[in-house]
Amino acid sequence: MTKAEAIALEEYRRAHVPLYNDQKLKLGVFGINCSYGLNISHAPTTYKVSWEHTSAIVKRADAMGFELALPVARWRGFGGTTDFNGESFETYTWAAGLAQATKNIMVAATSHVPTVHPIVAAKQAVTIDHISNGRFALNLVMGWFTPEMEMFHGSQRAHDDRYRYGADWLKVAKRLWTEEEPFDFDSEHFHIKQAQAHPKPIQKPHPVLINAGHSPAGMDFTAREVDFSFVGFDSVEAVKNVAARVRDKARTDYKREIGVCTSALVVCRETEAEARQVYRSIIEHGDWVAADNLMKVLGIESQSFNDRIQKYRERYVAGWGTNPIIGTPEQVTEQLAQVSAAGVDGMVFGFLDYNEELKYFDSAVMPLLRQAGLRK
Ligand SMILES: Cc1cc2nc3c(=O)[nH]c(=O)nc-3n(C[C@H](O)[C@H](O)[C@H](O)COP(=O)(O)O)c2cc1C
Repeated sequence: MTKAEAIALEEYRRAHVPLYNDQKLKLGVFGINCSYGLNISHAPTTYKVSWEHTSAIVKRADAMGFELALPVARWRGFGGTTDFNGESFETYTWAAGLAQATKNIMVAATSHVPTVHPIVAAKQAVTIDHISNGRFALNLVMGWFTPEMEMFHGSQRAHDDRYRYGADWLKVAKRLWTEEEPFDFDSEHFHIKQAQAHPKPIQKPHPVLINAGHSPAGMDFTAREVDFSFVGFDSVEAVKNVAARVRDKARTDYKREIGVCTSALVVCRETEAEARQVYRSIIEHGDWVAADNLMKVLGIESQSFNDRIQKYRERYVAGWGTNPIIGTPEQVTEQLAQVSAAGVDGMVFGFLDYNEELKYFDSAVMPLLRQAGLRK
């Protein structure tokens, strides 16, 4: 891409694509299509996986001006008494429904690339991009949960091979989104004759692409191929370092600018004591069997109960491994300001009870975010 093309693309996106708008900290909801959301816990909540409920949450986030609804792609649960995430809506069809039900928010699909052919995926993405009039985003995941990938192919690729496959997959999709003429594509993974797809996406050159890989192969894929990196939220310091690293890599190795977002569980109440009590309740109602199952697949040795592992176990039970943001509206605002100052463009949230807690977030936190200059 020439410099002039890069500038033109940036201008286009700022004007038309919500994730590139002029809000200093973009906001989103995350995990709203899977049972128990981001919490491996029986803590009381009205949250459930039903179309009525998930669409109510996303419509509320849309009305609050949030930029992104990001689903989790999941094909089986993690066992335990919750069978955490065992109920889930498939994310392309989920996004298509929500594209019709919402006005301004971007709706994403999260796609395990080995589960869908790129010609099918590219067309699904275009269809949702048209339904939403250019508000579709695609989160590309390679598939780390081995039993889930074995459901499809009976086996799992070696780690870095997943990204090689993903790169090939995305090459096909990008060409379908941008090229007018039919093309042949012959690679290690695909043998395609006269591929073509019309119409083209509303978003140019293609829907916003997201990846959340942290490994060297994942970071390289992100820096080279996608528009936003979603980095883990371990601490403000860690997120600052990883955000700088992935941005630098994109600039240095591929002459590209990418955005950086992160995710966290938010527990916000009128007093800090109340917020901490709700967080404790999530931990106390935790389904440790499911959490340990999940951590085992991730390669985290959860059997040895040292302090660090215990802290991480708690973070998996409450917030899918992220550093929770807990406190009063003022404290939550302060923490979000720190995340923003660390070089993060946006944050997607989990809540114990999304639909109810978004109401409070809207009335108590959004005004403070505006005062802090994080939102207009
Ligand atoms: C915000 C966020 C969303 C993610 N969503 C999914 C998902 O829906 N499904 C999935 O299998 N993995 C998901 N992941 C996992 C990543 O895509 C990736 O597999 C993981 O970070 C490991 O990649 P790595 O081995 O390159 O570090 C998500 C990660 C983050 C930070």
